[in-house]
Amino acid sequence: MGMIVSIHSYRGGTGKSNLTANLATTVALQGRRVGIVDTDIQSPGIHVLFGLEEKQVTRALNDYLWGHCAIEETAYHITPPEVRAAGGSIYLIPSSLKAGEIARVIRDGYDVGLLNDGFEQLITRLQLDCLFIDTHPGMNEETLLSIAISDWMILILRPDKQDFLGTAVTVEVARKLGVPRMLLVLNKVLASMDIEGLKRDVEHSFHADIGAVLLLTEDMLRLGSQGIFCLRYPHHPFTQQVRKLAQTILS
Ligand SMILES: Nc1ncnc2c1ncn2[C@@H]1O[C@H](COP(=O)(O)OP(=O)(O)O)[C@@H](O)[C@H]1O
Ligand SMILES: [Mg+2]
Repeated sequence: MGMIVSIHSYRGGTGKSNLTANLATTVALQGRRVGIVDTDIQSPGIHVLFGLEEKQVTRALNDYLWGHCAIEETAYHITPPEVRAAGGSIYLIPSSLKAGEIARVIRDGYDVGLLNDGFEQLITRLQLDCLFIDTHPGMNEETLLSIAISDWMILILRPDKQDFLGTAVTVEVARKLGVPRMLLVLNKVLASMDIEGLKRDVEHSFHADIGAVLLLTEDMLRLGSQGIFCLRYPHHPFTQQVRKLAQTILS
């Protein structure tokens, strides 16, 4: 049975989508079959990193949630050539970018329980080793659901007091819901900061392990979501940190 890894942050713009895309790609580069679900239905975007164009998306997660099709029919095989050469596969389940669809979700909500069933069906029907969930920021119903069903929960935060306070709440809720394994990832850290001190502070206040420390990188900003950083820069320290995180999850 494949495992579910969800990536959360308390606030938007923290780096969830980039981390999810890079972590999933790194795992797939080890010859695994991975899936990625964009559950950030209110502000979707991870498909952009994989170069999936809006006009190519004829079916999205929304169609499954409205009962229009089976969930695997919304999966796009978007395996990059490097991953294919390594024997891995990546399937992406995008969320709709149509204004009307987004408005409908915000207005009417959706059956969060259906998402859970959908994850299980994806793992079975696409024979996935790993399913990654890119979530909507903050604490909401779908965050609670994905915490409850995840084998791993990755909480990404910046060195910022608002992120720290919000993440503390999420960690507490995750513990109450009994998430099996949790890792913190610090992102957008400046090289000039006292990184060891920061790690100590974070581990001490959250009583949770840090899976990776990712520096704010100009190359990432320049890439501007137009590709998978780890494929573009295979020897970069960011890529090495993501590889370390992937190993922790797979071990
Ligand atoms: N380590 C990093 N260094 C520089 N820019 C980053 C880094 N991580 C993410 N970004 C940038 O931050 C922005 C938000 O990232 P994104 O992954 O979309 O966040 P989220 O999904 O949490 O909203 C993007 O412009 C992305 O390129
Ligand atoms: Mg995002």
